[in-house]
Amino acid sequence: MTADALAYPTQTRLFDALDDQPLDAMLTLLRQLRSDPRTDKIDLGIGVYGDEAGRTPVMQAVRQAELIVAEAQTTKAYVAAEGDARFIALLAPIVLGAARAADERYCGMQTPGGTGALRLAAELIARANPEARVWVGAPTWVNHYSLMRSVGLQVLEHPFFDQASQAVLFDEMISALDAARPGDVLLLHACCHNPTGAGFTSDQWRTIADLCARKGLLPLIDIAYQGMGHGLEDDAADMRALLDAVPEALITASCSKNFGLYRERLGALWIKGSNAQASLRARANCVKVGRSMWSMPPDHGASIVRTILESPELTASWQTELAIMRTRINTMRAELAKAVPQLASVAQQTGMFALLPLSREAVTDLRVKHGIYMIENGRMNIAGLTPENLPRFATTLIPYLSKGE
Ligand code: LMR
Repeated sequence: MTADALAYPTQTRLFDALDDQPLDAMLTLLRQLRSDPRTDKIDLGIGVYGDEAGRTPVMQAVRQAELIVAEAQTTKAYVAAEGDARFIALLAPIVLGAARAADERYCGMQTPGGTGALRLAAELIARANPEARVWVGAPTWVNHYSLMRSVGLQVLEHPFFDQASQAVLFDEMISALDAARPGDVLLLHACCHNPTGAGFTSDQWRTIADLCARKGLLPLIDIAYQGMGHGLEDDAADMRALLDAVPEALITASCSKNFGLYRERLGALWIKGSNAQASLRARANCVKVGRSMWSMPPDHGASIVRTILESPELTASWQTELAIMRTRINTMRAELAKAVPQLASVAQQTGMFALLPLSREAVTDLRVKHGIYMIENGRMNIAGLTPENLPRFATTLIPYLSKGE
């Protein structure tokens, strides 16, 4: 032991005082799943796309782009704190549409995953207006709460979805938002809602846009699943109409799902400001924050997506494979609704998730007795269903649903 260590007073052993931190529900489930030896277990947990054989393959276009990048890359020197500007310029029309991508009131930057974009958005909101409260529809992605609270913002819930009836509680949402104050933030899912799969109609989106404009609410739109619902354009259409109706907004995008780049951590944040100068200033604030958290975002995923989007052939290949994924998800939705009449609404919902009307006990029972893994709140990943496992899943599930569990 060194003299320094001997002199260190025991009461300053800071780490001994820390609280235990249980893994969150998602990570706990992942661990349980990986250690379950049953060969017929069904993974409907974490939001990762699986194909008909239950695999999460690297997309063809990604594979090819990786080879091109490996061949062409001559340095691993830093890119920039904003990330790869060309990646942002090529992704912008896909997310925002061509007109907004060319509008200088919109300004984007690369982030480590969609989660990184959300964290930066939260930091920016807290810098611009620490009194802002963030309204989220209940239920929302669990991590939304921690991301917003991690910067000291208050999170308030408005009704969104009734799990038992599978209905969107739109009138209840609008009345709850009466209590929102100018400068408050409204967190919305552009499409493929996580965890419910439910969404607003275009008329309802217009009502929300009017409400934001009238009350001075800042929309923060999470578009993590673009292309997994009805298509790249359709999934963004309502969000884009809302963007046109408000002076300021934040948009957080992810390439985890639609490019299958989960572990590469690739996302983007766009800021719509009232003018070019204001959005550039807002981005400079985000760069400053990012610098103190990760300095510069990782480049590998961005160079892959840039390479894909620079090539018409690779772009076509990517879009074709994405369409196959989407069709598979929608087919599984239709098949599940057919096999389990109580879940007819699942066929109307979109994206990877459905929130089944199940108690926590039923979810535990399904896992322990039948090796069927879902999130404790009843969320299932539709993309974990296959033609092979769906019949067993449906027959096992039905008694739990009819018991009203
Ligand atoms: C999910 O909701 O399953 C995904 O977004 C993965 C995650 O990190 O929670």
